[in-house]
Amino acid sequence: MNVLSAAFFATLCLFLRVECFKFEQTLGHIKPKTSPSVQTNSVQQLVERILPEHASKFSINVDPAFLVRGKEAFKVYKNGNSTVNIVGTTGVASATGFHYYLKYFCNAHISWEASQLNLPEELPDVDVTIDMNDRFRYYQNTCTTSYSFVWWDWPQWEKHIDWMAMNSFNFVLAFNGQEAIWERVYRKLNFTQQEIDEHFTGPAFLSWLRMGNMRGWGGPLSSAWHERSIRLQKKILERMRSLGIVPILPAFAGHLPRAITRIFPDVNVTKMENWNRFNDTYCCPYFLDPTDPLFKVVGKMFLEEQIKEFGTDHAYNCDSFNEMDPATADLTYLSDVGKSIFSAMTEADPQAVWVMQGWLFVHSFFFWTPSRVEALLTSVPAGKMIILDLQSEEFPQFARLHQYFGQPYIWCMLHDFGGTLGMFGSASIVNENVIKARNEVNSTMIGTGLTPEGINQNYVMYDLMAESAWRKEPSDLGAWFRNYSIRRYGRVNEDVINAWQILKDSVYNFRGLNLMRGKYAITWTPSLRLNIWTWYNYSDLFDVWDVFVNNSRYFKDSPAFLHDLVDITRQVLQINGDVYYKKLLEAFRKKDYERFYVSSRIFASIFDDLESILATNEAFLLGRWIESAKNCANNSKEKDLFEYNARNQITLWGPQGEIINYANKQWSGVVSKYFKPRWDLFISSMNESLVKNQPFNEGKVRAAVFKQAEEPFTFDRSAFPTEPTGDAVEVAQAIHEKWKFLLRNQNEFDGRLINRQPMLSFI
Ligand SMILES: *[C@@H]1O[C@H](CO)[C@@H](O)[C@H](O)[C@H]1NC(C)=O
Ligand SMILES: *[C@@H]1O[C@H](CO)[C@@H](O)[C@H](O)[C@H]1NC(C)=O
Ligand SMILES: *[C@@H]1O[C@H](CO)[C@@H](O)[C@H](O)[C@H]1NC(C)=O
Ligand SMILES: *[C@@H]1O[C@H](CO)[C@@H](O)[C@H](O)[C@H]1NC(C)=O
Ligand SMILES: *[C@@H]1O[C@H](CO)[C@@H](O)[C@H](O)[C@H]1NC(C)=O
Ligand SMILES: *[C@@H]1O[C@H](CO)[C@@H](O)[C@H](O)[C@H]1NC(C)=O
Ligand SMILES: *[C@@H]1O[C@H](CO)[C@@H](O)[C@H](O)[C@H]1NC(C)=O
Ligand SMILES: *[C@@H]1O[C@H](CO)[C@@H](O)[C@H](O)[C@H]1NC(C)=O
Ligand SMILES: *[C@@H]1O[C@H](CO)[C@@H](O)[C@H](O)[C@H]1NC(C)=O
Ligand SMILES: *[C@@H]1O[C@H](CO)[C@@H](O)[C@H](O)[C@H]1NC(C)=O
Repeated sequence: MNVLSAAFFATLCLFLRVECFKFEQTLGHIKPKTSPSVQTNSVQQLVERILPEHASKFSINVDPAFLVRGKEAFKVYKNGNSTVNIVGTTGVASATGFHYYLKYFCNAHISWEASQLNLPEELPDVDVTIDMNDRFRYYQNTCTTSYSFVWWDWPQWEKHIDWMAMNSFNFVLAFNGQEAIWERVYRKLNFTQQEIDEHFTGPAFLSWLRMGNMRGWGGPLSSAWHERSIRLQKKILERMRSLGIVPILPAFAGHLPRAITRIFPDVNVTKMENWNRFNDTYCCPYFLDPTDPLFKVVGKMFLEEQIKEFGTDHAYNCDSFNEMDPATADLTYLSDVGKSIFSAMTEADPQAVWVMQGWLFVHSFFFWTPSRVEALLTSVPAGKMIILDLQSEEFPQFARLHQYFGQPYIWCMLHDFGGTLGMFGSASIVNENVIKARNEVNSTMIGTGLTPEGINQNYVMYDLMAESAWRKEPSDLGAWFRNYSIRRYGRVNEDVINAWQILKDSVYNFRGLNLMRGKYAITWTPSLRLNIWTWYNYSDLFDVWDVFVNNSRYFKDSPAFLHDLVDITRQVLQINGDVYYKKLLEAFRKKDYERFYVSSRIFASIFDDLESILATNEAFLLGRWIESAKNCANNSKEKDLFEYNARNQITLWGPQGEIINYANKQWSGVVSKYFKPRWDLFISSMNESLVKNQPFNEGKVRAAVFKQAEEPFTFDRSAFPTEPTGDAVEVAQAIHEKWKFLLRNQNEFDGRLINRQPMLSFI
């Protein structure tokens, strides 16, 4: 569409008061199906859940005709003693208006880990109208289901769906229950129970079963699990739909149990390539060639069975080539593949739209040349496919791939891999580049999204990115971070506000292309060859820590502050772990026993302090993760299996540590019973080599670490606390007192320092 017709089009939709959307013809039907009154009630109930005491002061009205500039919009209005009136084009728009009012008029804050809802006695007057930039706000990564949601029950989902709606997400994966549907399909195809059991992974690994990366690991799944996940999925879908969120269901990507060749001996399948060193027992399901006639048969069976159980909103996700390349690069073949996958969808649902993660174009950058991508994408009718540009904040592909050759895409912030913890973010990139991308010539961008592999870290980044939904120009980040700090803790404290400015310019100002994968010395498998890096000056973080500890007495009643106090203390300690790792190595190489001794003692004490600060906050407890896993089980055997799933995912990730450390977590329990023991073993081997002047055989030591520390943790069944212990402020103050000299004066052999009182606590 040229500039003139675009302007004409915009004027026309303004004039006609219809929604102004370039892909209206092909995607116009991807919208809420529930009535305005259902959505109105649902948002009203959301308000009651969030603010039980103030709910009667809010009046919600969902009116699809309330378009502003042809766009989805909300208006929040209150004058004098009246109620707060919120009108929105959809339930999501109304919920976003409610949240906007809480944030920007009441200085309230709602986040994953803690909220601050101390509203003023008299609710402030307001008159604000805001339209959404794009048609879609997408949420979730196909991996989030496994890293963050796997053990959730309805209460967690309910809270999270409220969060989605209030943050404007209207296009969201709904992935529960799909294995139950598959089991029915497999049975119809005459697979035996044993063949099915060999295929399904355990709950903690389903994301990678679904993408064909692996099979069987941590499985099988019981009928109790299937029933549970169907029940959950129905509740989730009902709630999403009632709020005006369009759920995206899975479709057939081509991966099947190996026994497919027993039933159909002539079928054209290829064994998937090995993924991340998983051996043949757990890797490589078969990939049914999309051009084989059976592909449409199975794809259609699955969708029909799923639609029968859950209904549909016509959006389907599937990823056939996630981190695994197609069998051939032939352009005609790639085009045929695209056609087959899409027609397997349309045979079951003529209105189907294919939502695809664009991760393959990043991961297999060299395979997916523009011409191959063009062959795949243009095989699907224009506008019938939506690409999630998955990590736009670091590796955007839309420009390299020419706006996806006309297919619409969504600009997504991925931000987190494996649900690992660590303060990190690219605030200025997110703030600016979303808007630039939207304004590019011929841009096919139709939305913004969040695609973290795991949640529950760096809330500030998700809050900032979510506002891309309506932000028209880049924010003044200084003011934005100031506001964030005030909202989050419910108090104006200039020191703390200033500390957030430092964070904005340091940990949250990453602009490089390095891969951030939660790698810190203390969280990684011990080795002499760790490549530890950071992008900011440690002293900035230490300054922030000083301020948080120093002001903690004023914030004892702020759950979000206490959370952040723990989080920042955690970050300082693990950064300090990196510092002492380097010192340890240097002393070891120089065979300087005295320095090795001192550094190793200091390094070891970091684990104990980390453990004690994490134990004070419920967001950092291994016990919660394990207990929630066990709560999903139907019997004691399953409890054991699920606990194994839970422990393995966050440590070895595979029987032999195939993706070891990838999803590690600095949680109380993991630090003391997993990170520390393996480093203790490693350091005592280093020490032995040093003392006896023998060569250090790292391979041998690593094998011992695996057998004596890493693997036993996954088989262990001891219970961990599910409730916090200790007072975060007192513990943080004690740790601060102990470390503050050393952090600033890292030459611990400085005589002045070594004789100081605090050093005695280390040695
Ligand atoms: C608003 O409330 C105040 C105090 O509650 C009251 O004095 C005043 O009369 C009310 N005004 C209106 C217009 O109802
Ligand atoms: C499955 O088995 C039934 C009964 O033996 C048979 O009628 C049907 O054709 C089989 N289906 C497939 C796909 O092989
Ligand atoms: C749950 O387990 C019990 C025995 O522990 C069994 O009787 C019951 O059938 C199981 N429920 C389901 C749905 O499988
Ligand atoms: C099977 O699929 C491959 C591509 O994966 C293709 O090259 C081959 O020609 C197909 N074989 C048959 C017999 O259709
Ligand atoms: C794969 O590894 C598992 C666990 O380590 C082992 O039990 C299995 O025999 C291995 N399979 C193959 C084919 O090597
Ligand atoms: C935009 O699209 C028009 C029409 O297809 C084309 O002529 C023009 O080269 C494109 N511009 C850019 C920057 O891609
Ligand atoms: C900060 O908050 C104030 C008061 O709510 C608001 O007027 C201002 O626009 C906010 N600034 C940013 C950048 O969010
Ligand atoms: C880090 O900050 C400190 C204090 O401002 C300064 O002395 C030091 O030179 C900085 N280091 C680097 C590498 O910039
Ligand atoms: C700690 O707070 C006090 C008063 O609130 C202030 O005088 C002092 O400078 C602060 N110290 C640090 C290191 O921030
Ligand atoms: C190293 O080994 C010596 C002799 O066994 C022991 O005294 C010392 O405590 C060890 N040091 C460390 C850091 O393990």
